[in-house]
Amino acid sequence: MILVTGGAGFIGGNFVLDWLALCDEPVVNLDLLTYAGNLETLGSLANHPGHHFVQGDIGDAALVARLLAEHQPRAVINFAAESHVDRSITGPEAFIQTNVVGTFRLLESVRAYWSGLPAASQAAFRFLHVSTDEVYGSLEKTAPAFTENHRYEPNSPYSASKAASDHLVRAYHHTYGLPVLTTNCSNNYGPYHFPEKLIPLCIHNALAGKPLPIYGDGQQIRDWLYVKDHCSAIRRVLEAGRLGEVYNVGGWNEKANLDVVKTLCAILDEEQPRPDGQSYAEQISFVTDRLGHDRRYAIDASKLERELGWKPAETFETGIRKTVRWYLANQDWVAHITSGSYRDWTAQQYGDTLNA
Ligand code: NAD
Ligand code: DAU
Repeated sequence: MILVTGGAGFIGGNFVLDWLALCDEPVVNLDLLTYAGNLETLGSLANHPGHHFVQGDIGDAALVARLLAEHQPRAVINFAAESHVDRSITGPEAFIQTNVVGTFRLLESVRAYWSGLPAASQAAFRFLHVSTDEVYGSLEKTAPAFTENHRYEPNSPYSASKAASDHLVRAYHHTYGLPVLTTNCSNNYGPYHFPEKLIPLCIHNALAGKPLPIYGDGQQIRDWLYVKDHCSAIRRVLEAGRLGEVYNVGGWNEKANLDVVKTLCAILDEEQPRPDGQSYAEQISFVTDRLGHDRRYAIDASKLERELGWKPAETFETGIRKTVRWYLANQDWVAHITSGSYRDWTAQQYGDTLNA
């Protein structure tokens, strides 16, 4: 049995779906169901005997202690977080609460449980913390990609809160010997991605005939990884990662934002042409830049490949086409999100033009 936190979100949801498709080991899935959590993502598991969903907070020490005592997991995989940079700029409090205080409380609950295990179970136990490349800050255009030894230089309230959580995880290993692993991954994309993030937002807006908002000059670079490759990397690190180590996860796919959106438009032009015969690229619209916008991220994932033999299965070209096709085939999933409080967020972030 493993305990997954944040398993109703984008990456956690994909992880749980893939895990239960690949093996028989049950999952306890603890998720608070914030605006980003969505049980529809887990709809195919409704009658699955190996999926035990619990709505709750990683910071609820009594609940987490009860779940650990009851289910005796051999590992905890922590996906739960506030994850959207723009929301961290308009409202940082929730990021401190979940990403910093929540991770701290989770670590305390896990430490208490782990300390009471018999020696063999203690040795086999793992706490895997899912983190981000954003903790390393922003790179100059020609600088080498982030290795695990890069200095932490977080620039947004989101990345600062993730950096704090990474430091706590490291400290629990160094101080108490808790058997931890940390992964720092680049930008994910794929099925079940909440349509506030660049790729699903632009697919959604393109199909809805709305502007595709590009911050600033659109030349900011991100390193994209198909979400199922991130999940396979986490499984591999859980299986064979060295205790206390950090593993960078990335797809060697650096792209400027404007190029990503133009690629999306070109695929949509093929897969579902606009009724007027124009390209979706006509909808591209340059808008005010994000405050403190990091210019470039790039991940050097060679440690993970060298030590654990992991490689991504998808290129950006194969993964992005699969993603567009998934969104075209799953418009209901998107519609159920975008009909609710999502509209308040887009109105606040982009103004009325994008929310028409
Ligand atoms: P997400 O926002 O889609 O999902 C987060 C999930 O956590 C949601 O289901 C939410 O309900 C849940 N949650 C939030 N607060 C909680 C709390 N206090 N207790 C329990 N559950 C809570 O995020 P995501 O994109 O799936 O990211 C998952 C993890 O991966 C995060 O830790 C994020 O920092 C990290 N990460 C994300 C990316 C990316 O590109 N999306 C890349 C690298 C790392
Ligand atoms: O690098 C990993 C990180 O990737 C994760 O830790 C975060 O949880 C995840 O949200 C993501 O952060 P980004 O800020 O890079 O992702 P986002 O999709 O929000 O933005 C990608 C780029 O596109 C970024 O440079 C900002 C830009 N952008 C974004 C939006 C939402 C736009 O130009 N327009 C937009 O409307």
